[in-house]
Order: sequence, then structure tokens, then C-alpha cells
Amino acid sequence: MTEAITLKNLKKEYKNVSALHDLTLSIGQGEFFGLLGPNGAGKTTTINILTGLCNKTSGSVSLFGKDVVSDYEEARALIGLVPQEFNMDFFEKAYNVLYFNAGYFGIPRSERAAKIERLFRDLDLWEKRNSPVRELSGGMKRKVMIARALIHQPKILILDEPTAGVDVETRKSLWSYLEKLNKEGITILLTTHYIEEAEALCQRIAVINKGRIVALDSTQKLLHLLEGETLTLHLEKPLAKIPKALAHYTVVLNQNTLTFSLKPKDSLSQLLADVTSARLSIVKLETTQNKLEDVFLHLTKK
Ligand SMILES: Nc1ncnc2c1ncn2[C@@H]1O[C@H](COP(=O)(O)OP(=O)(O)OP(=O)(O)O)[C@@H](O)[C@H]1O
Ligand SMILES: [Mg+2]
Repeated sequence: MTEAITLKNLKKEYKNVSALHDLTLSIGQGEFFGLLGPNGAGKTTTINILTGLCNKTSGSVSLFGKDVVSDYEEARALIGLVPQEFNMDFFEKAYNVLYFNAGYFGIPRSERAAKIERLFRDLDLWEKRNSPVRELSGGMKRKVMIARALIHQPKILILDEPTAGVDVETRKSLWSYLEKLNKEGITILLTTHYIEEAEALCQRIAVINKGRIVALDSTQKLLHLLEGETLTLHLEKPLAKIPKALAHYTVVLNQNTLTFSLKPKDSLSQLLADVTSARLSIVKLETTQNKLEDVFLHLTKK
């Protein structure tokens, strides 16, 4: 697979803080990749180094083989960045924010109008095109930054907490927009504190804590890092003790509920057969799956 983003032994020391220790990571072309970590983990620092907003202390960073320092202009043109903090001229019209950014990336004036209209319509901002940024809501401002990031059709889209302060409905519509972009081929790197967002969107996730990668795997595999699923059986009548046929499971009895902690090796059909042989009458059955949030807390707890 072609590598879109390659970080090798990346280190960043600020005056008093060592923000990144030896970060090595590669993200393939077309991936939807999540970077998770608690406040201060080093996510924004990593992104700032990728986009040339901050200098690394040592190590190397390249985008599609272009070094972000020695091939700065080419590398920068490959990226569309949606930063964590609003960084637009609040007195400028939303339309002009895109228009000027198009100019920055060398898009001819004659081509700008069509591109801007397309993006603003896709993001439901067209009605607001003539409003100054300061008159837009927080969610709309985020969307203007997303449109701005896409104006030069970058191969990589980097979003630093794109849905912070965005309402549920808008968040869901942004998710489908990002999924559509990814299906069309754009590589996406996303940071978020909404774990369910990473769970819904990202194919692979790196969890960083205090400048170090503490987990890096497919979202599916990370979900399996903790013990497997839980199965709860609600019985018709309370039991005095756990039946013999079920004694070899990790199971807790509480009156008329039996809660099983399932290990990956446990077969569900065998379990149900054992329950049947114990002559239990079940009124309700529930399963709960691990949430990525539990895995995240497990990995980053102090
Ligand atoms: N310009 C700076 N000068 C000095 N220290 C900085 C600077 N920017 C970030 N840091 C420090 O580097 C560390 C990592 O910060 P960073 O902004 O990368 O974290 P983050 O993972 O993006 O956190 P958050 O989830 O809060 O956005 C923190 O300890 C922070 O205080
Ligand atoms: Mg940050």
C-alpha cells in the first residue's frame, strides 16, 4: 500500500515539555485513521508538525514521500487542514475565506466560484455565503473550515476535533460527508474526544498518551483488547445457586439474572445448550459489547 503519512522517530520538545517521544507511524493512502488521546497527549503537536505549523525537534515526517521540511510546498499542498482552533478572519465573508484560500493554493480565479459553490452546497452553507464569519454559529464556522480545507482538492484531509461543539444532527451529517470523501479516495486523519465518532468512522486507530503510542490497531481489534462480551439471562424464577451445567463459566448469579463474561473461546451455541440442559426458563436475553471508550480509558488511565 502507498504510504500517505509517514512519521519516523518523531520527537518534539517545547521549552519545558517533552510533547512527543519517538513517534513512529505510517498511514496508508485511502485510510480513515483516528488519533486518540487525552488532553495534552500530543495530537495537535503531531498535526502541527505535519502541516509545517511547528518545527520538530528530531525524526522525519513525509507525505506521499515528500519531506515536510525539505519539500515543504509540495507536502503542504497535499494536505487540507481543519485546525482545532478557529483561525479565520471573523470579519471576512464566508465566501471570501474560501476564495482567498483558493488563491493561496494557486487556483485560477475563473475556477474558484464553481468549487466554492459545490463545497458550500454539500455542507449546507450556501445560504450563509455572504455572512461574515463572526455572524455564523460555532457549528457553521467548523463547516467553513472544512470547506476551506477541501478547496484545493488535497489528497490528505486532517481534522483536529472537527465536531467539537457541533450538535448531534450536524455531527451525523458531517460523518456521512467525511465517509463519502473517504470512499472517493481521500486519506483522512482525525482526532476526536468523541470515542463513538472514532468507532463509527475510523478503520485504524492510534491511541497516544503523553507523547507515546500506547495502542495501534484496527478499530475492531482494539475493541477486543478487553475481555469479550457479556451475556445476561433473565430467568423466570430466582435461583438458589448456579446449576452444575454452568459452573465452568465465568458467571455471576443475582436472584433471577445470570451474567456471563464470555471469553473469545466460548461458543454461544454451547452455552445455550448448557442453559437448556440446566432446565432454566429464560424470559429475556441481553448482550453488551465492549465500547471503544472502555478500551480507551483502560489504555490511558494514570
Ligand atoms: N506552543 C507550545 N509551547 C509549549 N508547550 C506546548 C505548546 N503547544 C503544546 N504544548 C504542550 O505540548 C503537550 C501536547 O499538547 P497538544 O496540544 O499536542 O495536545 P493534544 O493531544 O492536542 O491535546 P488536546 O486534546 O487538549 O487538544 C502539552 O503538554 C502542551 O502543554
Ligand atoms: Mg489538540
